[in-house]
Amino acid sequence: MCGIIGYTGHRPAVPIVIEGLKRLEYRGYDSSGVAFIQNRSLLSIRAEGKLEMLEQKLAKSDPYLATTGMGHTRWATHGAPNEQNAHPHQDQTGRLALVHNGIIENYQSLKQDLKQEGVIFQSETDTEVLVQLISHLMKRDELGLPEAISRTLQQVEGAYALAVISADHPDELWAARNSSPLLLGVGTGENFVASDIPAFLASTREVVFLDDHELVCIRPDSWRVYSGHTLEPVDKAPQHVDWDVQSAQKSGHKHFMIKEILEQPGVIRDCLAGRVDRDRGRVVLKELETLAVPARLHIVACGTSFHAGLWAKYILEQWSGLAVQVDIASEFRYRDPIVLPEDLVIVISQSGETADTLAGLRIAREKGVPVLGICNVLGSAVARESDLVLYTQAGPEISVASTKAMCSQMVLLVLLALYWGQESGRLKSASLSRALQEMEGLPERLEKALPALRETAGFLAQTYSAARSFFYLGRGSNYPLALEGALKLKEISYIHAEGYAAGEMKHGPIALIDANLPTFALITENDLLPKLRSNLQEVQARGGPVIGLTSSALDVGAEDRWEIPRAWGVLDAFFMLPALQLFAYEMAVYLGKDVDQPRNLAKSVTVE
Ligand code: AGP
Repeated sequence: MCGIIGYTGHRPAVPIVIEGLKRLEYRGYDSSGVAFIQNRSLLSIRAEGKLEMLEQKLAKSDPYLATTGMGHTRWATHGAPNEQNAHPHQDQTGRLALVHNGIIENYQSLKQDLKQEGVIFQSETDTEVLVQLISHLMKRDELGLPEAISRTLQQVEGAYALAVISADHPDELWAARNSSPLLLGVGTGENFVASDIPAFLASTREVVFLDDHELVCIRPDSWRVYSGHTLEPVDKAPQHVDWDVQSAQKSGHKHFMIKEILEQPGVIRDCLAGRVDRDRGRVVLKELETLAVPARLHIVACGTSFHAGLWAKYILEQWSGLAVQVDIASEFRYRDPIVLPEDLVIVISQSGETADTLAGLRIAREKGVPVLGICNVLGSAVARESDLVLYTQAGPEISVASTKAMCSQMVLLVLLALYWGQESGRLKSASLSRALQEMEGLPERLEKALPALRETAGFLAQTYSAARSFFYLGRGSNYPLALEGALKLKEISYIHAEGYAAGEMKHGPIALIDANLPTFALITENDLLPKLRSNLQEVQARGGPVIGLTSSALDVGAEDRWEIPRAWGVLDAFFMLPALQLFAYEMAVYLGKDVDQPRNLAKSVTVE
């Protein structure tokens, strides 16, 4: 949840580091800092608040001769978000600087031991323990920098992605990772390390994905990966990444979030690409060819990804006939779940780095259950630790509020339901072909529908901007969408909202209904519509206004009717979801909120 970038090469390091931090700001932004080596001295400049505060301080210095440097944007876990706790942290000698993303779980005991040996600490952070311990071991045990880093990491418990520079090795930068993302960017006469690809994409597309407990040394004209424990060299090859820089930029939109919502037609298309055999009317998932049809499915995820999994439960059970259990990862990991080797655990994660989801993955593997990872980031921890991986191919999702990622997860989960339906013989080819045809038609239909959806979203957001709370109601597979609509509104407009199964309202929550509490009803023309209609009449009888988000031609008497295109059965979800996202987006914009970087949130929650 913090952002790291390191550089060493032939160009001034600080401007490159600052540009990289700007592309990582979504990972956390309550403070930031840079460290660089100039005339064999180590300098460090840090600032509380957003990146522009650091730039203002840098404007007063002259760091442009430095060709080795690193930077950090912070999302606080230990220690208040202030300058004293901002990274980089230096050792007592002032010759070493370190930046870190993750949590050192045993930092208190390590700090105590170092204090007893006379080390004086400047901050409250767990990170400072790392740089002080490295420095202490270099001095006490007369170790070289790599040896001291390796020895330190062997004493550390917890997650880290870190980078270290030393005034005594001005052309080197050392970095290491365990459970937090860290990548190597290989340039010409320059090399990079970073938490995420956009940080250095403007300079190189050649990426080396580091694995846990690996250490890397970069110099202007070379790089080398080592085992963090043994310092034995590890062979790694760069992978070419074809994301263009624009796709990690806003491409003209005001926010990453609106850009990513409007990308969803293309995301559906990209996610289907290579996975539908049109001639034979079948789903092709090469990644699953070695996997027998599982006995049961257990889906484990957090937040929006959990909502995608809950939505998929309805489709998977209906089309593949498999029993599906869906768990919030932070619950799954602590309840000693009953999962069997003939089952399959599916972990869903856009970032592939969410700590709770990773923990669920590891528990499944400890229990001998195969794990299928559904994630968006090539080479992420989920991707590397799963037995099988399906990439959502949604491109970088920068906005903290997840939008296109959920759409792509739902596409993949539909394909999985169809795939197992076809492999088990449960789905006849006619149904399969019809479903695939409908899926393939979605991108064009959604492309056409989005402008009108956005206009209505803006109108309704202004109409209801005074509301302090909303209900979102749905039945069947619209219930998870109601949860997601509520989450989107909460996390970017800071208005309270509650997603609820419509049939549950009478068991208590309807006591809350009054004229000031609008209800968003998700309405699909199916067998449940009459029951939903009576739920809404109960709400209206108590003066609660209803916004009917509907794909049905039937009039349910809502105060505001918001029509979305009709789709084949549950596939109207691919119109409902962007409508819900757009309502939250337009509301947040109208209320002047920080849409892409909402308060208290980070894009990837890599701590529990
Ligand atoms: C969604 O808008 C939130 N940002 C959050 O709930 C997110 O979905 C959750 O943290 C899971 O992230 P992941 O998909 O990267 O694992």
